[in-house]
Amino acid sequence: MRSARIVSVLMALLFGIAVAGIAVAGEGPAEIVLKAKKGDVHFTHHKHQAKFQCGECHHGPDHSAYKPGMKIQTCDKCHTKDFQNKKLNSVMKAMHTNCRGCHKEHKADGAPTKCSGCHKK
Ligand code: HEC
Ligand code: HEC
Ligand code: HEC
Ligand code: HEC
Repeated sequence: MRSARIVSVLMALLFGIAVAGIAVAGEGPAEIVLKAKKGDVHFTHHKHQAKFQCGECHHGPDHSAYKPGMKIQTCDKCHTKDFQNKKLNSVMKAMHTNCRGCHKEHKADGAPTKCSGCHKK
């Protein structure tokens, strides 16, 4: 009886540490739901941070790669219909170029390249 209780207290402690560990393992949200009519994309932000530099995805107004201390803005702050480069003048174009571009290079590592690999209905 008593040892079973100690075990469960220990389990609760270990679980708490594991959860806290996950919570501090990355920066910004752990997962980001990117809304799309085609099906929402559940982007595993922290999992991507574990493998790649912030600057693979975040850059400043002059397109310089992210450096610590730089302000991070959402893609829709710049990639709008007024963006000078027509290949990047929407959030969809910016994200498809960024996300799919890398996924094509990392197909062998399990990065999804098909529409349904990212867009889940
Ligand atoms: C593989 C791509 C990728 C990597 C690597 C990445 N991020 Fe992100 N991050 C995103 C995307 C996409 C968003 C959502 C942007 C949007 O909603 O327009 C985001 C959002 C954020 C946000 C929230 C911004 C806001 O105002 O809502 C923060 C903060 C952030 N990232 C910080 C970081 C930091 C710090 C790193 C490096 C440790 C990093 N990210 C690495 C893609 C990435
Ligand atoms: C502060 C403004 C700004 C923000 C915020 C921004 N971008 Fe950009 N982005 C630019 C500029 C400027 C360029 C350079 C355009 C060119 O060379 O024609 C660029 C280029 C790109 C490119 C093409 C070159 C490359 O790096 O592969 C992609 C893809 C891209 N951005 C994706 C994103 C994504 C995804 C986000 C959000 C996570 C984002 N951008 C946020 C301004 C911004
Ligand atoms: C710099 C390279 C790179 C960029 C940029 C990138 N990814 Fe990935 N992504 C990967 C790799 C590699 C995997 C496979 C990870 C694994 O299974 O360990 C992956 C896996 C995924 C998965 C499958 C679930 C998972 O977490 O394994 C989704 C969904 C995904 N990425 C969405 C996105 C979205 C949305 C973006 C753009 C906002 C993006 N990725 C940008 C490299 C990238
Ligand atoms: C690597 C992940 C990924 C893959 C693969 C992908 N997309 Fe997307 N797609 C996104 C992201 C991220 C957005 C941006 C969502 C947002 O605007 O916040 C997006 C946006 C879109 C949009 C505009 C938003 C909407 O209302 O649906 C369309 C249309 C779309 N994708 C179609 C496709 C089609 C068709 C394919 C296959 C040929 C495809 N996508 C493959 C990640 C992906």
